[in-house]
Amino acid sequence: MPFAEVDGARLHYLEAGAGEPALVLLHGFPLHAGMWAEQLDALSGPRRVIAPDLLGFGRSDAPDSLYRYTMAGFADLVAGLLDHLGLRRVALAGLSMGGYVALAVLRGHPERVARLVLADTRAGADTQLAYDTRTDQQEQIARIGTDALVETLLGGLLCERTRSTRPDVVDHVRRLMANAPAGYIGALEAMKHRPDATAELAAIAVPTLVIVGEDDRLSPPDVARDMQARIPGSELVVLPDAGHLSNIEAAAGFNQAVEGFLRRR
Ligand code: MLT
Repeated sequence: MPFAEVDGARLHYLEAGAGEPALVLLHGFPLHAGMWAEQLDALSGPRRVIAPDLLGFGRSDAPDSLYRYTMAGFADLVAGLLDHLGLRRVALAGLSMGGYVALAVLRGHPERVARLVLADTRAGADTQLAYDTRTDQQEQIARIGTDALVETLLGGLLCERTRSTRPDVVDHVRRLMANAPAGYIGALEAMKHRPDATAELAAIAVPTLVIVGEDDRLSPPDVARDMQARIPGSELVVLPDAGHLSNIEAAAGFNQAVEGFLRRR
């Protein structure tokens, strides 16, 4: 099981395949790198695919100190992991919170990004309501743990069709959400303070693919369309029968879109 020591943190990552440019997959909240199982399998034929557990998630360290959790900090750890792996430039794909981190990598370490995939994510900062909700969630976790929040969040992560017809997927996602309370609280802190990246989209100069599940209620297709319209030369794929976790709910379509994008240019 591969681990890397980066800036005093022990990071775990999943890995498959060989060949450059490598593809690095950044998971959403509150999941871990295991959410990319089907992508590690399907996309690793001609290339190395790496999926780290972000700080606080999966088998990576989950420090209690809140100051360790910022978007810029997550991005620095991703860049440190690339150093550890000897990877200079990679194709970077992030889903939701992973997309926030990908945009932070582009901001802090632009030389490391050869291509970008932004899935079910947004460039804007939290609204006051979203910020306050995250604060409530942090307090709830400190009081009673993560179980109740997992059930609340599940409702938004998966579309109605998945929830009512694919109990195996619901169980799989619930298992992916079994992460340290400190990681939940830290990531909520990082997300609620993340900067607005909207003005940075027009300056993105690497090939970019935007993907969104047609029934994503957390980062809906309109948000994806707006983001794609602001990124010069970017492409948009809307996946049917998928909510927020489009890489799981519509894995075949997701993989086809990413494979086509990575081969095209
Ligand atoms: C995620 O899937 O990473 C979350 O929905 C992101 C968020 O809460 O903003």
